[in-house]
Amino acid sequence: MLERGSKSLAANTSTENMNKSQLQILLSHLDEVEEKKAELEQYQTPPSIAAEVLIQAHVASDLGGDNAESDPGSRNGQRCDVVDLGTGNGIFALGAAVLGATVRAYDTDPEALDVARENREWLEEELGRELDISFIEENVIFVDDEADTVVMNPPFGLQRGTGQANVRFLETAFDIAPVVYALLHQSEGDRERTRDFMRGLASRNSFKTRILAWFRFPLPNTFGFHEKEAEEINVDLYKFFQD
Ligand SMILES: C[S@@+](CC[C@H](N)C(=O)[O-])C[C@H]1O[C@@H](n2cnc3c(N)ncnc32)[C@H](O)[C@@H]1O
Repeated sequence: MLERGSKSLAANTSTENMNKSQLQILLSHLDEVEEKKAELEQYQTPPSIAAEVLIQAHVASDLGGDNAESDPGSRNGQRCDVVDLGTGNGIFALGAAVLGATVRAYDTDPEALDVARENREWLEEELGRELDISFIEENVIFVDDEADTVVMNPPFGLQRGTGQANVRFLETAFDIAPVVYALLHQSEGDRERTRDFMRGLASRNSFKTRILAWFRFPLPNTFGFHEKEAEEINVDLYKFFQD
């Protein structure tokens, strides 16, 4: 395993050409938000899932870069402006910046943003270069930005009182960018109903929908509302895009 402070990975890799395992190793060294807040649904995306999402976006040219292939709804080969909504410890924002994007990352929680900024510092030292990324404290409903791509893992709406948080995040994302990658949780036992709901929401906002993958997403019992110690839920990776 790469020790924090080791230069071994960075020294041997052109970071914009990183493969999934190299990116996953790098992301696995980021600190997590320690005191996770239930009301903000601060579920940490595992590095393996974040790396998969980011590499899919990268290969589709949605994070910029010269080596990417074209894909419906994508910008080809140019540097991209990327927004991460609900950045938490910055895992998506930092990964996108490593792959060559210019990133603005928003979160309402100043403590999460402190962790993200510390992760950025560590990563820049590790890579030996500055990352083009800003961490900004803002509630998603007030975010006013414009970008090529949004990449995000919004709150799933599992915690009492946070229902529809994923819808608020999606509606903001649709206003920001013509391409949106989002991890969205499947309703228990009724995956197709959730997917139809998301497709309908996208369509009303003039977006098309592709479901690229699904994952088992671990939810540790740090929130006090799960009866089991830890459980896994099904999460879909969506790509929403405009022609
Ligand atoms: C599911 S976590 C994802 C964190 C991180 N992006 C990841 O993938 O591991 C959702 C994030 O959204 C943030 N959040 C929740 N409600 C928010 C709001 N109204 N405005 C902005 N950020 C919010 C939380 O603080 C948390 O960091």
